[in-house]
Amino acid sequence: MKQLKGRDLLGTADLNTAEITDILKLARQLKSKELEIKCNKVLGLLFYKASTRTRVSFTVAMYRLGGQVIDLNPNLTQVGRGEPIEDTARVLDRYLDILAIRTFAQQDLATFANYAQIPIINALTDLEHPCQILADLMTVQECFGSLQGKTLTYLGDGNNMAHSLLLGGALTGLNIRIAAPQGYEPKPEIVKQAQAIAGDRSEIVVTQDAIAAVEGAQVVYTDVWASMGQEELANQRIPLFQPYQVNQQLLEHADPEAIILHCLPAHRGEEITAEAIEDERSRVWEQAENRMHAQQALLASLLGWE
Ligand code: CP
Ligand code: NVA
Repeated sequence: MKQLKGRDLLGTADLNTAEITDILKLARQLKSKELEIKCNKVLGLLFYKASTRTRVSFTVAMYRLGGQVIDLNPNLTQVGRGEPIEDTARVLDRYLDILAIRTFAQQDLATFANYAQIPIINALTDLEHPCQILADLMTVQECFGSLQGKTLTYLGDGNNMAHSLLLGGALTGLNIRIAAPQGYEPKPEIVKQAQAIAGDRSEIVVTQDAIAAVEGAQVVYTDVWASMGQEELANQRIPLFQPYQVNQQLLEHADPEAIILHCLPAHRGEEITAEAIEDERSRVWEQAENRMHAQQALLASLLGWE
C-alpha cells in the first residue's frame, strides 16, 4: 500500500474509504496467515495514559512484522519532565521508524507530527481512538460480511470512541446512531464532519433516546461512562447514564442477530451488565484480538511494505 507509506494517522478521517478497505483486507490476510510481511523497523510507544490492549497489540504486531519496540514511558523519559514536545519529536525522529502516542490533547499529537518526519499514530487521545475503530470495523465485517447498510448503535458518553465510530462509519457506509445523555453528546463539529463524509451513503444520528437508537441495530456498542482523566466524575455520572446501560432489556430492541461490542476495559454494572458482556452475542474478545491484526496491517502500510 504505497499510498500510505510515511503518512500519519492522527484521526480516523486521515484515511479515505479505499485506504480503510485496503487495511481491513490486509488485516484479514494477516489473521488468516494467507500473507506474511516482514519489515525490520523500530516502533516507539509513548503512552501518557494506561493501556493493556493498545500497548500489547502494537508490540506483538511489530514483533510479528520482524520489528522491534521501545517503550518510551514518559515517567522515564525527559518529555515527562518538561522537555518540549518539539525537541523530543525531532530527536525520536532520528532513532525510530514509527511512533504511536497515547495522550490527552489532540494538539500535542499534532505537534509531534509537525516536528517528526516519521509516521505518528494516534493510540488514543481525548478526541479520537482511530486504531480501535479499525478493529471494530474488522469485527463487524467478520460477523456480517459487509459494513454497508448495517447499523451500529453506540450508547453512553459522546467521547473519543463515539467520535471515531462516527467518522469510521461514515467512511465505510455503516450507519451510526449515538445515544447519549443531554450535555454528553459527541462534538457537533465531528457529527457534521461525519454527516458530510457519509452523504447519502450512511445514516449518522445523535439522539438522547436509547431505546429508539437500538431498535433493529446489528451492533450494540458501549464504552466507559468516564474516560481516562475523568475518574473523579465517574460516580456523579452513574444515575444520568443509567438509561444507556447495555443490558438484556435494551438488547431486546436490537436485531435478533445483533452482536455486542465494547472497546474495553469494561465496568460491569455500569455501562454494561455482566450478563450482557458474557452473552453469546458478545464479540468483545474477537474485537480485542482484532486490534493486533488491524494494527499489524496499519504498521505495515505506514512503513510501506513491498
Ligand atoms: N481499548 C483500548 O484501547 O484498551 P487499552 O486502554 O487497554 O489499550
Ligand atoms: N473512552 C475511553 C476509551 C478507553 C479505551 C478512554 O478514553 O478512557
